[in-house]
Amino acid sequence: MEQEWKELDTPTLLLDKRILLENIRKMSEFAKGKNVNLRPHIKTHKSVEIAKLQLEQGAIGITTAKVEEAEVMAAAGIKDILVAYPVSSPAKIERIIALLNQGIDLKVTVDNLEQVKLLQKALEKTRHTLDVWIKVNSGLNRCGVEPGADVVELAKGIILLSRLRIGGIFTHAGHSYGANGKEELERIALAEADAVVKSAEACEKEGIPIPVRSVGSTPTYRISGRVEGITEVRPGNAVFFDSIQVGLGVADRKDCALTVLASVVGVYEGRIVLDAGSKTLCLDKGAHGLDSVKGYGYVVDHPELIMERLSEEHGVAVFEDSCGLRLNDKVRIIPNHACTVANMFDEYMVVEGEQVVDNWKVDARGMRK
Ligand SMILES: Cc1ncc(COP(=O)(O)O)c(C=O)c1O
Repeated sequence: MEQEWKELDTPTLLLDKRILLENIRKMSEFAKGKNVNLRPHIKTHKSVEIAKLQLEQGAIGITTAKVEEAEVMAAAGIKDILVAYPVSSPAKIERIIALLNQGIDLKVTVDNLEQVKLLQKALEKTRHTLDVWIKVNSGLNRCGVEPGADVVELAKGIILLSRLRIGGIFTHAGHSYGANGKEELERIALAEADAVVKSAEACEKEGIPIPVRSVGSTPTYRISGRVEGITEVRPGNAVFFDSIQVGLGVADRKDCALTVLASVVGVYEGRIVLDAGSKTLCLDKGAHGLDSVKGYGYVVDHPELIMERLSEEHGVAVFEDSCGLRLNDKVRIIPNHACTVANMFDEYMVVEGEQVVDNWKVDARGMRK
């Protein structure tokens, strides 16, 4: 592929291979150093190529949100998959069973007895036993059982069922994205680990073994992953990083592997218009709110620009004096939220320095179910 990225038509998604490999290496290095397993969440990149790089670097398996992501990864030969999302509809349970039929080492999230019984009933019609991981609420207040006694109660219900096996307890401290400074982040991360370890210990006290104790969000995993009793971490965004992570102080701009290449389509008094709008950069300022994120992305080498407004295909960047950009000039933008932006594109243009060296599909993008 003999092309420089500056020659590409826009908007397009650039993935800096050197930074990507370094980010993958750092996650693996952390896991090895702290003697925990690494199960990265692939919802960030939705790419078989990148998932395989993570496995080559020592990840023991992957995490997905959607059943369809699991199907895409399984079809590419990836065997060890946690669907970190409660599955209870009959249609999805059938697809879980289809994955078991293919020999996939699948783990499914549970957080209530009704759902657990639906899984058991469906599995009775098969030859399979399914590993279920109990999701614990460590403060995000999304899905999950309350830590401690409620987890034990659910675990006691599960062990009575012949086709389910408790594989682990896990949580995701997504509220870390709203943390106000390092101290709050640390407090949230320690509570994330505590919710899992205490719940696992309470189960084991009742004679129910909990082999896996898993935590993970990009802002917290390097803190919660060091706590005694934790066996696994599941970072997702850390494979790319983005402006939200920079705003949180979790990454530097130089760690951000993903950028959107956009062109100047109009120059006006105090503003330029780029061909990257909400269908490219997403109107995402972080699900949990963050004051330090200004605008809708960071324009590399142009600190004077603020991405003030997005309509669907137009991005309006404002400046005070001058910005030196002219019609058809190209800029790279570090998105606020890399995971949602990757999902908007069909492929990554993989770059090394100025050169485009490959293109990789966003294999599981926009998956329906
Ligand atoms: C269950 C679960 N695990 C891990 C992650 C990874 O989080 P992050 O992208 O912050 O690393 C997520 C993110 O949504 C998640 O929901």
